[in-house]
Amino acid sequence: MDELDRDLMVAVATYLRHAGAVAEQETRDIRTPLGERVSAHLGVDVTTVPVVSEPIPDHRLVDADLVLERWQEAGGSLIGIRGGDYRMHAETAELLANPHTRFAPGPADYLERPTGPDTTRRVVGLGVRLLVFDGVPVAVVQRAAYERVGRETASVDVLGRDPEVVSGFLRRLREEMVAVSVLRGQVITLAHAENGVGSRAGFLPRPRVHSADVVLPDGVLAEIIAHALGIGEHRALLLGLGQHLKRGILLYGPPGTGKTLTVRHLIADAVGTTVVVLRGEGLGHVQQAAAIARTFQPSIVVLEDIDLVAMERHQYPQPLLFEVLDALDGLDGDADVAFVMTTNRVDVLEPALAERPGRVDLAMELPLPALPERVRLLALYARNLAFSPEALQRAAERTAGTTGSFAKELVRSSVLLAAGRAEEPADEHLAAALDELLGSGRRLTRRMLGDEGAAAEDRADGSA
Ligand SMILES: Nc1ncnc2c1ncn2[C@@H]1O[C@H](COP(=O)(O)OP(=O)(O)O)[C@@H](O)[C@H]1O
Ligand SMILES: [Mg+2]
Repeated sequence: MDELDRDLMVAVATYLRHAGAVAEQETRDIRTPLGERVSAHLGVDVTTVPVVSEPIPDHRLVDADLVLERWQEAGGSLIGIRGGDYRMHAETAELLANPHTRFAPGPADYLERPTGPDTTRRVVGLGVRLLVFDGVPVAVVQRAAYERVGRETASVDVLGRDPEVVSGFLRRLREEMVAVSVLRGQVITLAHAENGVGSRAGFLPRPRVHSADVVLPDGVLAEIIAHALGIGEHRALLLGLGQHLKRGILLYGPPGTGKTLTVRHLIADAVGTTVVVLRGEGLGHVQQAAAIARTFQPSIVVLEDIDLVAMERHQYPQPLLFEVLDALDGLDGDADVAFVMTTNRVDVLEPALAERPGRVDLAMELPLPALPERVRLLALYARNLAFSPEALQRAAERTAGTTGSFAKELVRSSVLLAAGRAEEPADEHLAAALDELLGSGRRLTRRMLGDEGAAAEDRADGSA
């Protein structure tokens, strides 16, 4: 080893000692101003306590916000986070300790979220609540889902000195979120979030459809309602006798025969019952719907036109359908939950349902209306008009194979026709409108209105 080597090694060793000291200093200073603030609240260095993270479906964020705000008002504070857009990406640990971005206390981020069909609430989308729980300081980072950066669920991250206290905090939070929930007793629909696969809840006004608005063969509507709602009314008795409450109802029949209308009447009748309605792409959220149904019993989960999504996938077995069946299976038998499914294509579903028996315990056909029902349908939709009973009877006789939606459209066409002639709607308009609708030029219209006769004519022509 010559002189030069020795000098170099001494220099390197000195440098390394210096580097170590700098690194140590940096580790000590790594807490962000936000981390300092939270440490001061907790009375302990935040970098030494674990972050306990609880994901929350975004549609429960309002519930969490209600509870946490109440606890905060009882003695706590809310701080937001300064530090640019990166705060949305950063995990809680990075917000609190970070050598690169010096996240600092600032204003909280807020979002508007629905709390009912006509109401919203301003909730914290990103903020830190400094609370005292059971006399012990606790910090909570509250976040909304934010698909743009890959956050599919909302979350609360809890920090505290004592793991027992943190667990107790989360337990109480879950309980209180159920107690104060804005979802209970509401009619909710779940759809895809704008930017991704997460779900967003929407509130629907409870429909107002009277039993007199639904024309079905005698006894059909009553049986559906009794099965969906009556079973819950005998809850104690059934459970006492070891019988399950959970039930699955399938309404099937051609398009336009009143399946959706029947469901709307059922929802209207089920005042106080929590209802989750899924249709189209929203059907993908069936597990979330089942979770809501389980938490907020008594409840109804409506799955509209389940065949559509099942067929879209061109696969067998249809994954969605099995997901639905799994969701049904996953609920305890004593859950007061009714699954109501509708379909125009029972043939598509039947094999899967037969393969796993017992999930659907009432399958009701809503058939094409027979003559007496067609008369009642026309009378219903013409109730404010002066058609004679004979004209209604004649029209009903001519409309074999058509549906309730056809009856409604027929009456509307009659009114339009009369209006075009500046006349009061009368029997002749009803007959003329029917001629027009039944004319061969309107076959497609009739099919759109669910006319099986038109479909059959098309098939005979080879035009379908
Ligand atoms: N059984 C029925 N009783 C009364 N109106 C009906 C009936 N069937 C259909 N309609 C009318 O047609 C419309 C469409 O029916 P809908 O319930 O959507 O049919 P589906 O869901 O079976 O395809 C209803 O809103 C209603 O105005
Ligand atoms: Mg429908």
